[in-house]
Amino acid sequence: MVESAETGTFAKAVGDLKKLLGDSGWKEGSDVAMYLDDPRGRFKGRSNLVALPKNVSEVSEIVKICSEYKLPLIPYGGGTGVVAGQLSIDNSDLVVVSLERMNKVREISAENSTLVAEAGCILANLKAAAQEKGLIFPLGMASEGSCRIGGNLATNAGGIQVLRHGNARDLCVGIEAVLPDGSIFSELAPLRKNNTGYDLRHLLIGSEGTLGIITAATLTLKPVPQETVTLFAAIQSPSTAVNLLGKLRNDLGDSVDAIELMSDLGIQLVNRHLADTVFPLGETSPWYLLIEFCGSTGLREEVEQAIMRHFESGIISDVVIAESEAQRLALWRLREETPEANRREGAICSSDTSVPIGRIEEFIARVGANLEAIQPGLRVNSYGHIGDGNIHHNVFPPEGTSKADYVEQSPDNIEAVRMAINEATNDCNGSISAEHGIGRLKTNDLSRFADPAKLSVMKKIKKALDPDNIMNPGALFDR
Ligand code: LAC
Ligand code: ZN
Repeated sequence: MVESAETGTFAKAVGDLKKLLGDSGWKEGSDVAMYLDDPRGRFKGRSNLVALPKNVSEVSEIVKICSEYKLPLIPYGGGTGVVAGQLSIDNSDLVVVSLERMNKVREISAENSTLVAEAGCILANLKAAAQEKGLIFPLGMASEGSCRIGGNLATNAGGIQVLRHGNARDLCVGIEAVLPDGSIFSELAPLRKNNTGYDLRHLLIGSEGTLGIITAATLTLKPVPQETVTLFAAIQSPSTAVNLLGKLRNDLGDSVDAIELMSDLGIQLVNRHLADTVFPLGETSPWYLLIEFCGSTGLREEVEQAIMRHFESGIISDVVIAESEAQRLALWRLREETPEANRREGAICSSDTSVPIGRIEEFIARVGANLEAIQPGLRVNSYGHIGDGNIHHNVFPPEGTSKADYVEQSPDNIEAVRMAINEATNDCNGSISAEHGIGRLKTNDLSRFADPAKLSVMKKIKKALDPDNIMNPGALFDR
């Protein structure tokens, strides 16, 4: 085991790592503070050293040193994860391996419609690189200006375009990674077909840094849509939204790129906390949808005709279609600022679970009933990726009580609320993590709700690949 800092094994390992990386290749002391922040402020990370490798060979050498000294390491991307997968909570004698200097797009192939990016490439930057070649990388999320593709893949990130283009996993055709013994696994060729046994790429994607460090990936690109149509519609219920999605797919094929559910409370919170946002309709409604369509020339006319039919039949009670890019962005702000508005309002729980889309209405009702049983008056903003069955519930103390007061007065309710949402999810045959992962926040939830056979195989795989548990120990499973 690792001994205490300075005199013991940790100090020796740090010495070897610093020698390997050179003066610009590591940080310690107050310089590591920025790697220890939790975006939602619930955890404080710990680490005495951050390594900044500049290529895959250095990553391999770092892992070999960690393996030799049995020194734990945490692979680190943009630090935007919200389940503490990138934060050591109980141990400082470990090395955070930040991929930030490995941030290049290695190549773009228009012929293959692929892009090879290093793991530390910021999502927005690789999207811009694809755009320059007339292609898009359709992984979209509010954190894209700071999250990095290695982290997106390690967590199998989702976001707003999953409905049409899939999760990070579905957009990755090749991968390079350093495994727990320091060996380099490299399968970056853009192969659409490759049936050669176990797929290590898919094992590493979503493994949250517990089986290796992803260092580069080959990503699928898509054509730039000729027309994009964005609208904001008022509807009466979540099941109306599911019904409408089915009809729109019949009308317009797979051009529905995103369909996001928002509640009236959610919109009120955005308008209250983000002063320059504007409610775009004449009257309020219990629920709203932000829908974006992407397709070929003529799409706008088809969308307008379809929407008019659904307005006349009463499925949609009001609608505004963006007339300009500025209007489109203003509509998207209502959705993208929702997490920030929840934070400012004082959410005591921000969930990320999914259910089969046919059960969304039941799921939302079950969550409401479970919360009522904990304490009448708790407020909930249910919103999110309705086309994926992925509804985020943000729960707030009763009107008039601040988060700080509530945490002090009713601390047990915080965990009770989280579990109430998990129970409702489980009762609807859902998943306790839809798109954010397990990290350290949900290890107990995983052991409680995962299929036992799956959990057992996961633990065996972990033990086989990482017998000394050096790769992100404490993430996915308790130590
Ligand atoms: C969202 C994040 C919380 O969809 O997943 O806003
Ligand atoms: Zn989400």
